[in-house]
Amino acid sequence: MKASTRIVGIGGTARQDSTTEKALRAALDAAQRLGAQTELFSADELDLPMYGSAALTPKATALIDAIRSSDGILIASPSYHGSISGQVKNALDYVEELSRDARPYFEGRAVGCIVCAYGAQSIGTAIIAMRSVVHALRGWPTPLAAGISAVGLSFGADGRCSEPSVQQQLEAVVAQVWDFNQMRSHMAHMTHVAHVAHMARSGEAA
Ligand SMILES: Cc1cc2nc3c(=O)[nH]c(=O)nc-3n(C[C@H](O)[C@H](O)[C@H](O)COP(=O)(O)O)c2cc1C
Repeated sequence: MKASTRIVGIGGTARQDSTTEKALRAALDAAQRLGAQTELFSADELDLPMYGSAALTPKATALIDAIRSSDGILIASPSYHGSISGQVKNALDYVEELSRDARPYFEGRAVGCIVCAYGAQSIGTAIIAMRSVVHALRGWPTPLAAGISAVGLSFGADGRCSEPSVQQQLEAVVAQVWDFNQMRSHMAHMTHVAHVAHMARSGEAA
């Protein structure tokens, strides 16, 4: 089994004090408490040319490399006019660069979806949009998503959301990303053990 679990967080908004980014940071903190190594790609790191319009920039390469070596992914977007933001969608379009990998796109990774908006309708439609993109990228959206009403929301100095139900949602999503990876690692390990045992038995029979 791999020594460490790497969880990449992608999202936020370009707005100073972005609630979406704070929610993503709170989720990554929760992942760290579970034992994950985490990396955040937010406003500055996602300041990328429109995918396909220019050669890959160092920021784009850093994002692609981090996703390539990840074991789990968290995506956080505001709902803009009922869907995920252009900035987050553009970042996800860069995942096309992983299309020829042995493990293409988001293959084999759980993806936790986080959406912040003012209204419930917009939260729901953006979660559906985000999950559709994750499916297209062969990722496994977790059963729970975090749909967060951003109105009056605050985060403490410790990074946790002051609204316990929101903090719980974020932690539940992270736990599902974590558990999925643990199950996959365990399965891979058991398959390897079975293979070694089979080879040993074949050797004995010969
Ligand atoms: C361009 C734009 C479109 C938005 N559209 C919606 C919307 O359709 N429904 C909604 O509830 N909130 C909408 N919002 C509010 C955002 O969802 C809200 O600003 C977000 O939850 C928090 O973003 P932040 O991470 O920048 O704090 C919109 C905001 C912007 C800037």
